[in-house]
Formats: sequence, C-alpha cells, structure tokens
Amino acid sequence: NAVEPFDYVIFGATGDLTMRKLLPAFYYRMLAGQVPDSARIIGTARSPLSRTEYQGRAREALDKFVAKADLDEARVEAFLNMLYYVSLNGADPEGKWADLKASLAGGEGKARVFYFSTAPNLYRAVAENLHAQELITPKTRVVLEKPIGIDQESAREINDGVGRYFQEGQIFRIDHYLGKETVQDIIALRFANPVLNAVWSAEYIDYVQITAAETVGVEGRAGYYDGSGALRDMIQNHLLQVLSVVAMEKPASLDADAVRDAKVKVLQALKPLTAEMVKDHAVRAQYVAGESGGKEVPGYLTELGHESGTETFAAVRAEIATPRWAGVPFYIRSAKRLTRKVSEVVIAFKKTDHGLFPEGDRPQVLVIRIQPDEGVSLSIEAKDPSRDDMALREATLDVSFGPTFKVRYPDAYERLLLDAVRGYPVLFIRRDEVEAAWSWVEPVLESWKANKAPVETYKAGSWGPEAAKALLARDGHAWHEDM
Ligand code: BG6
Repeated sequence: NAVEPFDYVIFGATGDLTMRKLLPAFYYRMLAGQVPDSARIIGTARSPLSRTEYQGRAREALDKFVAKADLDEARVEAFLNMLYYVSLNGADPEGKWADLKASLAGGEGKARVFYFSTAPNLYRAVAENLHAQELITPKTRVVLEKPIGIDQESAREINDGVGRYFQEGQIFRIDHYLGKETVQDIIALRFANPVLNAVWSAEYIDYVQITAAETVGVEGRAGYYDGSGALRDMIQNHLLQVLSVVAMEKPASLDADAVRDAKVKVLQALKPLTAEMVKDHAVRAQYVAGESGGKEVPGYLTELGHESGTETFAAVRAEIATPRWAGVPFYIRSAKRLTRKVSEVVIAFKKTDHGLFPEGDRPQVLVIRIQPDEGVSLSIEAKDPSRDDMALREATLDVSFGPTFKVRYPDAYERLLLDAVRGYPVLFIRRDEVEAAWSWVEPVLESWKANKAPVETYKAGSWGPEAAKALLARDGHAWHEDM
C-alpha cells in the first residue's frame, strides 16, 4: 500500500550509499506502488549540480544497481521526475537554505524525512540548521545513517546533538541488517515454531556463530574504512543487532518498544570484556595479497598505500549473562576479502548421549542464511539405508525462501526508507541500544589501540587467520566451514 504523501530530503545525496542503495530502493518501492505520485525526493550535497545533472547521475545509478528486467523507461522517467537537487552544505548555517526551503514549499502538511548520510560528526550541525531554518514540522523524522560515532563518547555527542532538535520518537537510527527479511525471520522462526522455541537455550544449544563475510575489499571507501575497521563497521552495529534478535527473551508484543526493550536487555547483559581479556576473546587481522573471485588481488596495505593497524577481519567471543544463555559462547566475525559472501547465524546444538547407535555422534546444526540464498537448514540424523545395522547418516532439512515463496528478496533499504515515512520504528535502533553496543566493544577498541593484541594476517580469498580458528578450537568448537 502507498504510504502517505512525503518529501524526503537526503543529505549526502551524491554519495555512494545514495546511488547504490537509496535511489534504487525508492525506485523499487515506486514499482511496488508504495510511493505516491506527489512524493518528492530532494537530494542535497555540496557539489554545484543542476537538477538535470543530478537526474542524469540518478539514471546511471539505476542502470547500474537495478536489475535490467525491472528497468522500464516510463517508470524511470516518472521516478526521475520526483527527484530534485539542492546544492547545499547542510553543516553550514550560511548555506543555501533558501533553496531547500523553496523546494519544500507546499509540503508543510506532508510527512517529511531528513536522511543524514554525511559524515556523522556533522549530524548535530545539520540538525541545528534545520531547526534554525524552521524546517522541522510536527510530521518530520530524521534518519541517521551509521556509524553513530566512533566510540561511546562520540555516539553520545551525536545523540545529544541531534536530540536537542528532534525527540527520540522522531529519530530513526538505521541499521540495514534489521531491514533484511531474514533477520526479521529470526523472530518468526523462534517464536512461531514450538519445535525451535523449546530448544532455544543453554540447555540445548552449545554455541552460536554469527558471520558476515564479504569478498570485496575496501573498494573506494578506504578513507572511511581505515578510520573504522571491521569491528566498528560491522560488529558494533549489524552483528550485535543480529545477536540481540537471536538471544532476546520473547518480547511482550511486536511493538517497537517491546522489541527494542527485549533487544537492549541482551546488549546490556553481554559479559563485559576487560582490556586484559581481549587478546583471548578477540582476533583482528588484515588481508594480504591473494585470489578473490578468480583474480589476483592486492593486500589491504597495498590498496591503502600506507601503514595501518586497522583490521579488515574481526572476531569476538561473547557471552550473555542471563539464565537462558549461561555458558554459551557467541562467536561473532566479519571481514572483507573472505572466500565467499555470506551472512548467517549458525546454532550448534549439544550432542545428545543417545547410547543406542553404533556411530553418528555429530551435533545438530541449524543455519539461518541471512544472505544469499535466504533460508534455513537443519541437519538431522537418519538411519543409513545402505547398512543393515542401525548406523546413522546425516541429512539436511533445507528450505530456500526465495523459490518457496516465489518472491524477490527486497533490499533492506526499501523497507526501511518507507518505514521512516510511516513513522514505524521497530526496525530502527533506539539510543540505549547504540550506547550499550558501544559500551561492550569499547574495551576491544582500547586494547587494540594500545596494541595489546597482534594484527594477524590472512590471505585474500581465505576464511581468515589461523588465530580465528584457534579462538574456537580452545573451546573445542569450529567455524561453520570447518564443521
Ligand atoms: C555496511 C558496511 O554497513 O554494510 C560495509 O559499512 C559493508 O562495509 C556493508 O560492505 C555490508 O552490507 P550487506 O548488506 O552487503 O551485508
């Protein structure tokens, strides 16, 4: 269903995220009939572009990032007609605010969204300018792109700064992993299936792995990435969000605050790591030259062109101090330039001592495939039909959601962009969640900054450094690909 009429203003509208994700996402929602004809998408950035020039860039972006089969000239034209451009530095109080005001004219009663996709240290200034220019209407919301800061203190400053001009209910902190259908699926799988719900605790679960592996290097983003690293870029936000959904208690309802209350309790219950513990609970590494996607690729430092201690691989062993999860390790890892692109949750169940069968002493494993090939698989033991004794043989119950439901899996941004118009915050992060997540990763950041743990290396195209294997081997466990 179409959302109500809206004006959407993007700060950072010439950036990679806008071109790669936001514009294609709007286009797809237009195809789905969810964008009303009167909607306006107003890009702003410092570049002095005309509207026509901006529309030209948008067209290129659609050509590149929308599937050919979904590109229809008439629809593309209609989409480009919704696009406007204002050359404006949002952080500058003396910027061309009159131009932005002019393009918002007549939109006072519509839903209004400001999407901040600039450097996060500018968020406060942009919010302040929007306030000073009286552009914040009662139906205005602001979307904050990640990262919210680089540590707890800077996150607090950003939250305070934006919070001065917007109420918490108007602030939509985006974490696109929450917009992924399969991350929302974790809630359905857990709470709508008694078979899974009954075993979702330390009594049955041995350990949990949460992986986001990528094959790409740092691409054109080395400037940002080198100041960030895998821990800040992926784990502090996306993977801790996934962890909180996997581990939360049943929320009182599916309302935004009920779900977020349940999630934040998990983040707050993460056992604190101390700087001394970090070397035994976390691994950082950088890729060196190797082979990826069938071609030779250079190492991170070569790509970067200078020395750096920034990790392109991070793995952390977490524990959650609640009765449900007592003693269950959660291994979280994310990296660039691994063997293949996959984001998944792996639940390894405890072995049952059946004492009956001659062999087949494997743990059951449930894999929730966040992407690609969205779906779920569960290993089971069956009787080996090739033998006359009661030997067991492993088989897999496997469902791929795409072919099963016969739907295209939408990009996470599609849903989230319009949820901000709807004023529906369940898939956005509340302030206390951001701060709890920073608080937990902070000792790791500090310990790494003080060089208390080595920067390991791994070959591009591999599954990461030996030290990451050792992290699990110490507990008698193994990463999914080695199971
Ligand atoms: C972003 C990170 O938040 O997520 C990128 O900044 C990363 O470095 C991306 O590539 C991964 O998203 P996805 O949806 O492809 O797993």
